Amino acid sequence: MKLKAVMFAIAFTGLAVGAVAAADEPQVVRQALMKKVGGAMGALAAVGKGEKPYDAAVVTASLTTISESSKAFPDQFPVGSETGLETEASPKIWETPDDFKAKALKLGADADALLAAVPADQAAVGEALGVLGGNCGGCHQAYRLKK
Ligand code: HEC
Repeated sequence: MKLKAVMFAIAFTGLAVGAVAAADEPQVVRQALMKKVGGAMGALAAVGKGEKPYDAAVVTASLTTISESSKAFPDQFPVGSETGLETEASPKIWETPDDFKAKALKLGADADALLAAVPADQAAVGEALGVLGGNCGGCHQAYRLKK
């Protein structure tokens, strides 16, 4: 009886660890980072288009999210994570990793430059979107598979 309970506990722990590992898979982590970047760009776009009133706190938080997420992003492509979990990562990432990383860090640097002088009104947010947005298409074109 006691042994059964112990074995059940071990089996159950194994399941729990398995679930955590899935959320930790690099494919899942990097997709979540990009979703955060996309969400932050959406929040900035709402301000830039005048759909939402200018709010310095929202602008700062969005730029911070873009900065932090884009810097963490290139570390989520270890060998072995080329496929699976619906990844859209192109094999080219592993062929020219330095260029890929530079593109990610460029987005981070652009966000940092904007954080150093936070866009102060709707028009400035619109300009910032242009600067940041140039990074998205450039990298997706080269390194994201089209579905
Ligand atoms: C350094 C390259 C790079 C840059 C810069 C970049 N992306 Fe991505 N993005 C990718 C890659 C690679 C994927 C596919 C990741 C995967 O599926 O494993 C992706 C996926 C995405 C996704 C889909 C996430 C999902 O799976 O749900 C969104 C949304 C996205 N990017 C938005 C953006 C936006 C907005 C920008 C610009 C602010 C941006 N990205 C800049 C490389 C980049």
